[in-house]
Amino acid sequence: MRLVVLVSGTGTNLQALLDACADPAYGAEVVAVGADRDGIEGLARAQRAGVPTFVCRVRDHESRADWDGALLEAVAAYEPDLVVSAGFMKLVGPPLLERFPMVNTHPALCPAFPGTQGAADALAYGVKVTGATLFVVDDGVDTGPIVAQATVPVADDDTPASLHERIKVVERSMLVDSIGRMAREGWSVTGRHVRIG
Ligand code: GRF
Repeated sequence: MRLVVLVSGTGTNLQALLDACADPAYGAEVVAVGADRDGIEGLARAQRAGVPTFVCRVRDHESRADWDGALLEAVAAYEPDLVVSAGFMKLVGPPLLERFPMVNTHPALCPAFPGTQGAADALAYGVKVTGATLFVVDDGVDTGPIVAQATVPVADDDTPASLHERIKVVERSMLVDSIGRMAREGWSVTGRHVRIG
């Protein structure tokens, strides 16, 4: 399964995928990594792994619709079977979503705490258990059909950063396990239900 991975930051989820893809038995390969900004560690990780990269910045386009078109063109050049949003901090518009299936990983248990501050919002709410969700991207914010979830207990002395770091540990394994199974066993979506195998 050919993957294009989209990143905006550190890229530890990307790194976990790159490491898994080094084994041919894993069943997937990262054919390109795209970003919405320059100079991020995620792009450097791709370059170190010898994976082609591209940058598509909103500010280089006249409108968000133009950016959506440019992002689609950049992704389509690599003919992915699946686009993986791994810490990509942009909402992607219909052109890309209508052409390619896309999954996103979110640091909370959807449908709770959508948006950019999933870990901090869960902590502020006072939940005792939170986690990470892998879902198929639709036109909402963290609302798509759920592929997998993993839980993390909240500690009394957690800060948003410490909680997010612990979530990211399970998030990476969940991402790697799920993408590998999707690649090797196939997957389908019926309504809100994602089935692997
Ligand atoms: C992940 O927790 C992701 O869910 C969130 O941002 C983080 C990205 O981490 N949106 P990294 O760039 O993969 O290290």
